[in-house]
Amino acid sequence: MFPKENYVQRRSALRKKLDSGIVILPGNSESSMNYPANAFRFRQDSNFLYFFGLDHPDFIGVIDIDDQKDYLFGDDLDMDDIIWMGPQPSLHEMAMEVGVDETGPFGKAEEFIKGAIQKKRKIHLLPPYRGDTKLLLSQITGIRPFNIDLWVSEPLIKAVIALRSYKDDLEIQEIEFAMDIAWEMHTTAMKMARTGVGERKIAGTIEGIALARGNGVSFPIILSINGQTLHNHDHSNILEPGRMMITDAGAESMLHYASDITRTVPVDGKFDQRQRDIYEIVLKANTETIRNIRPGVTNKNLHLMAARIITQGLKELGIMKGNADEAVSMGANALFFPHGLGHMMGLDVHDMEGLGENYVGYNDEFRRSEQFGLAYLRLAKKLEPGFVFTIEPGIYFIPPLFKQWRKEGKFTEFINYDKAEAYLDFGGIRIEDDVLVTGDGYRVLGKPIPKTADEIEAIMS
Ligand code: GLY
Ligand code: MN
Repeated sequence: MFPKENYVQRRSALRKKLDSGIVILPGNSESSMNYPANAFRFRQDSNFLYFFGLDHPDFIGVIDIDDQKDYLFGDDLDMDDIIWMGPQPSLHEMAMEVGVDETGPFGKAEEFIKGAIQKKRKIHLLPPYRGDTKLLLSQITGIRPFNIDLWVSEPLIKAVIALRSYKDDLEIQEIEFAMDIAWEMHTTAMKMARTGVGERKIAGTIEGIALARGNGVSFPIILSINGQTLHNHDHSNILEPGRMMITDAGAESMLHYASDITRTVPVDGKFDQRQRDIYEIVLKANTETIRNIRPGVTNKNLHLMAARIITQGLKELGIMKGNADEAVSMGANALFFPHGLGHMMGLDVHDMEGLGENYVGYNDEFRRSEQFGLAYLRLAKKLEPGFVFTIEPGIYFIPPLFKQWRKEGKFTEFINYDKAEAYLDFGGIRIEDDVLVTGDGYRVLGKPIPKTADEIEAIMS
């Protein structure tokens, strides 16, 4: 855990951003896999972690805005629990570690919160993303489960985002630790990528690294020779010569800060000309956009810059044609780059996404586009010092999308369908790094992971 002053300070900063009322932050409970006592790995709620730090199930944190008090509700273990799970600190001891004086048994939360509601005090809830949290909130507030969403507090969402968006030095250290694990995961995957090796073996090996050094992966590993499927969690293929393997994977530090890195490498370690041509375009989109990161630049402009580099590069290969700026403003590039340039990263790999993507990545200045491709951009707004986010451009040849667009005759002025058809067996390439916005520029986090074609060929040789 961080020093207790950090948690005290975060709760006090939150208090200053809200007028009145009580903030209810339920932690997560264990979640069963296939029968009640067989649970998934426990993952604490990130907002609870941010303000209350404790990485155990079944707590409710309450921040009283008006009387300056913080409360932690939870149960001490009884002898049965201790026999099965070993001795644990008491609720009071745990509360002291994060600077909370007021504690009570889990069952008391209901009385406390319903009492506050009876007194017509405002309650602030964040949007729950698990069914059992909804039921718990329903129980302790008396609001029917399907009405909980109506009680979600926009001021609280905005206040939490206004705090969690800016990473301090201790948080950056945690992210860099997660990056260090990602370095080992990705360099290991590169060295294993040989004809005849199964995707599952590589994915399992690097997930093992994440578990051995940190708190496991920050999201399910994407590792596939079918990189054209953006979130491909199928690991059933055997690597074949002439294909490329995409690995999009990251780890969590022990305090649950994430890394999220993508590398794409040729099976057997040598790029052929066609692979190198496409690779160099994606690499340029990655490095040029990173080079332009500084406070005040909008991520939407970086996204559009990547889209133009991709369009220009594909034009040079004859796959696209016409005016590149016009092609990008119409969205023609989305046939090959159908996702956004990146997202915020922190305690969640898509940081704070559960609070609402539009609150995290957009504001009054930036409304989300409805154009195919650009609509998937998660972060559009101006970059500020302390933001940590990903830069992850890609080029993909997605046969069903290609066939649909061709049939509809979409953007025939910008897309050379005959030429592009020859790439339908290609797959996809994505290159992703995690970057901190500094006072006057940026810092790519972590130890450099081989990225240029030459560096990749060298480590794989
Ligand atoms: N790394 C997966 C994603 O960013 O969606
Ligand atoms: Mn990502």
